[in-house]
Amino acid sequence: MVFTHYGAVMEPVFKTSLGKLYLGDSMKLLDDMKDELEGKVDLVLTDPPYNISKKAKIKMGHKWKRKDLNYDFGEWDYGSITPYDWVPKVYDLMTDNGVLIFFYEKREIGCIAKWLEEELDMKVRHIGAMIKTNPTPQVMKVKWMNGLEFFLIATKNKKSGHHFNWKEGYHADYIVTSVVQGRERYPHPTQKPMNAIAVLMRWWSFPGDLVLDPFAGTGTTLYVAEKLNRRWIGIEISEEYVSYTVDRFSKNIPIRSEKTNKLVEIMNKRDACCDQNT
Ligand SMILES: C[S@@+](CC[C@H](N)C(=O)[O-])C[C@H]1O[C@@H](n2cnc3c(N)ncnc32)[C@H](O)[C@@H]1O
Repeated sequence: MVFTHYGAVMEPVFKTSLGKLYLGDSMKLLDDMKDELEGKVDLVLTDPPYNISKKAKIKMGHKWKRKDLNYDFGEWDYGSITPYDWVPKVYDLMTDNGVLIFFYEKREIGCIAKWLEEELDMKVRHIGAMIKTNPTPQVMKVKWMNGLEFFLIATKNKKSGHHFNWKEGYHADYIVTSVVQGRERYPHPTQKPMNAIAVLMRWWSFPGDLVLDPFAGTGTTLYVAEKLNRRWIGIEISEEYVSYTVDRFSKNIPIRSEKTNKLVEIMNKRDACCDQNT
């Protein structure tokens, strides 16, 4: 049970046998959850505000037969919360062997990695990329498209033996995927594809683990956790996005598989072969 600072019981807006979703400000709710969850979260997997929104819209015009480009993701993306604010809060909730994974703005992610190691004494295991096979084209004459999004993987445990599901086999530090499409798509400006989240969760947690997403959006992480048999807790400030999560769970949408990497396939086959021969 989660109690607010005032002692009132905080009710989830949606729950299943594996998880609970809370509607509210994670900066407050993470504090409220501390008594109950301190040292219990195995994986924090989230996609927080990047603080990169711009008020400008870019007109693509009739000639391009495309929608205008909109870089205004929402008021939540205008710089009020940074990882320096929320990471220490989730850090307290993580187990000693817990894993922190989050997507972030590419210009900033290196500085944050340094801060995690120097100030929080964590070990940054990877800065990886999600490679989009169909990135949004840029405006006229700019022919390089932004096809990469970066994520960071850090553990509390700085030694070997950290929480890693090595039985899943090899994986490169990038995930190749199309942007969210079809039945999986909701009107959220920065929705992540379920297959990319599934890769991160399969390798960096185990069935039965507790997964936390304090910026849940349309519930991508929460739904993937449910499908992969992990327990989960989500927080989202927008009622509209919470309603998409509820809808997603009601539809039972399958998770697409990611495009695999040939080298990884060869290495996994080689290991499987060695295992049979021993
Ligand atoms: C980058 S989006 C996450 C999108 C998500 N990964 C998905 O696939 O739908 C960040 C989310 O954080 C939410 N948010 C922003 N500030 C928040 C806060 N203080 N507490 C809880 N949620 C917040 C926003 O409403 C937004 O949906």
